[in-house]
Amino acid sequence: MIKKGIILAGGSGTRLSPLTKAINKQLLPIYDKPLIFYPLSILMLAGIRKILMIVNPNQINNFKNLLGDGKRYGINIKYKVQKKPKGLADAFILGKNFIKNNNVALILGDNFFYGQSLTKKLEKSLTHTNGARIFLKKVNKPENYGVAKISKNIVEKIIEKPKKFISNFAITGLYFFDNKVYKYAKKLKPSKRGELEITDLLKMYKKNNSLNFEHIGRGAVWSDAGKIDDMTNVSNFVGSVEKVQGIKIACLEEIALSKKWIEKKNIIKNIKFYGNCEYSSYLRKI
Ligand code: DAU
Repeated sequence: MIKKGIILAGGSGTRLSPLTKAINKQLLPIYDKPLIFYPLSILMLAGIRKILMIVNPNQINNFKNLLGDGKRYGINIKYKVQKKPKGLADAFILGKNFIKNNNVALILGDNFFYGQSLTKKLEKSLTHTNGARIFLKKVNKPENYGVAKISKNIVEKIIEKPKKFISNFAITGLYFFDNKVYKYAKKLKPSKRGELEITDLLKMYKKNNSLNFEHIGRGAVWSDAGKIDDMTNVSNFVGSVEKVQGIKIACLEEIALSKKWIEKKNIIKNIKFYGNCEYSSYLRKI
C-alpha cells in the first residue's frame, strides 16, 4: 500500500516568464485556487496523507504560508529544497529520507486531473507493491510529453518528447513506485538536456519487466498546466464546471472532511485563515 507521496513543485518556470519571475508556477491561479491545490487534492483523494513537497530555495516560505505543515487539511507536509532543477527523477534522491523503505507516489506540481472514475483507479493502484505504474492519456500532441508505445498490453517503448511519432499515449505526471526507486534513481545519468529524466527511470523498470500502466480513459480529464495556453484552458474548465454545478474542484477541506481527517472546527479555523472570500463561503456551505 502506498502511503507517501512526493509533489514536485520546483523547476525553473522559464516557459511562463515573466509570470514566474517573482512567484513559482505552482502558486499561480487556476481559476479560484493556486495550481498546487489540484495535484495535492489528487494525492489526498487517493488517500495519501504523508507528503513531501519539493520546492525552490526562494519559494519555500510562500509554500509554507499557504499550506503550512498540512495540519489544516488533516495531512502532513514536509518540505525539501531543490537547489537546481536537476530533473524529475531527482525527487527520489532528494526524498531518500522521506521514502525510507516505502513505496511512493510522485505527482508533478503542474498536473491537473479530474474525473469520476479516477479516484477508484488510484485507490486500486495504490495496492500494487511491485514495480512502477504509469497513467496514460491519449493526446493530440505527443511530442510535448513523455510517450509510451503499448503493444499486446505491455509497454514496448518509452520516449521523452519524441520528435518522430511513436504513439499518442502521453505519460501523465502521476507515478507510483515500489521501494527500489531510490536505488534506480541513483544510477541515472543526466540526459542531453542535463536532467535526470523520469522516462529513463521508467525504462529501468521496463528492463526489469516491472513497469505497468493504467489508462486514464476518456471520462477523465488530464492536462499539464505548464504552458500559458494550457493554464488558461484548465482555468476556464475549472471555472465552467464550478459555475454550472456549484461544486468546487480541489477543495482540500472538502476532501479531508469526507475522509474524516478533519472536523467542522478545523474548517471554521480555515475560514478565518482565508478571510472573507468566495472559497470561505463555499467552506461555510460544506
Ligand atoms: O506533464 C507530464 C510530463 O511531465 C511527462 O509526460 C514527461 O515525461 C515529463 O518529463 C514532464 O515533462 P515536462 O517537460 O512538462 O516537465 P517540467 O520540466 O515542466 O516539470 C514538471 C514539474 O516538475 C513542474 O511543476 C516543475 C517541476 N520540476 C521540474 C524539474 C525539471 C521540479 O520541481 N524540479 C525539476 O528539476
